[in-house]
Amino acid sequence: KLTLRELCTRQSRVEEGHGMKVAAHYNELQECGLKVRSQSRIFYLRNFNNWMKSVLIGEFLEKVKQKNRQGISVLDLGCGKGGDLLKWRKGRISELVCVDIAEVSVQQCQQRYTDMKSKCHRNEHLFNAQFITADCTKELLTGRYKDPDTQFDICSCQFVYHYSFETQEQAGAMLRNACESLRPGGYFIGTTPDAFELVKRLEASDTNSFGNEVYSVTFQKKGDYPLFGCQYDFNLEGVVNVPEFLVYFPLLEEMAKKYNMKLIYRKTFREFYEEKVKDAENKMLLKRMQALEPYPAEETSRLVSDDACEYEHAENYMKTQQAKLPLGTLSKSEWEATSIYLVFAFEKLC
Ligand SMILES: C[S@@+](CC[C@H](N)C(=O)[O-])C[C@H]1O[C@@H](n2cnc3c(N)ncnc32)[C@H](O)[C@@H]1O
Repeated sequence: KLTLRELCTRQSRVEEGHGMKVAAHYNELQECGLKVRSQSRIFYLRNFNNWMKSVLIGEFLEKVKQKNRQGISVLDLGCGKGGDLLKWRKGRISELVCVDIAEVSVQQCQQRYTDMKSKCHRNEHLFNAQFITADCTKELLTGRYKDPDTQFDICSCQFVYHYSFETQEQAGAMLRNACESLRPGGYFIGTTPDAFELVKRLEASDTNSFGNEVYSVTFQKKGDYPLFGCQYDFNLEGVVNVPEFLVYFPLLEEMAKKYNMKLIYRKTFREFYEEKVKDAENKMLLKRMQALEPYPAEETSRLVSDDACEYEHAENYMKTQQAKLPLGTLSKSEWEATSIYLVFAFEKLC
């Protein structure tokens, strides 16, 4: 149990900086049903990002299993509403700790888990789970785990880490939370915007912004990129998002050494996709998750964009010998939005 003083300290930590804004933003985001989602301009982009996470998570669960680890435990840092719960179920892990700054998201995540558990076949043992609301850039999580000595095989941090680069202290605290409780040989994996790509696109623009009909990024100024607190606003499908911060990856790599973490790889979404799609199982998953848009559209359906320029690349590809119809593609604008990101994986040395 926490004392009143501890509760007040925790609350005031959340309130400093952008934490409150981030929590309020994600708390207010509505979970919409499949019907609404499938009508979205970025339906395939969302599914594509989800496929990227599935493949990354699958790869590292496999690595852990190869080390003969029984009873895999995972920390989902910035779990949101539980978008990855099914992936953990599929990976047959034993223990999951879900943490997020947004209380409503954590509640929804927990509800999703409870529903999943109640629908489980009686022969299936679903993983045990703990749910924590905390600002991972300000609070050390070890004190919040049911078992403070918990050791994780994987810490997964999907589309979250960039919120921490507001200050050196915050980025350091998030990293400590990600790595401190990993067992030797454990992995810290994630997805985050690629600072090189963001700055390249910004420098190529005539203004402080760039983007297209599905996303836009606005920096406060050009030419000056501090290592921490380099803020930009990311706007996806017209929803004004909360401020994010550039993550200069070589710096993260350097900071991670403090926790004995060695970078295994850092790949752009393009590199990761091109490598992973060669695997037949991943390719099938791409289809099952509807991560690419069929092109040309079937007679009874419409493409997500009516603008022919959005599919010029697919038209050109169709003229080649290799093309098997229908193709699987993303509209140009969706591809430009997703190709901002990178995937990364670190391993804790023994
Ligand atoms: C883009 S969402 C990703 C959610 C989830 N990882 C996924 O891939 O579906 C970013 C999440 O990071 C969480 N977040 C942002 N800053 C955080 C912080 N300081 N501590 C904990 N969670 C944070 C947000 O509340 C939000 O749920």
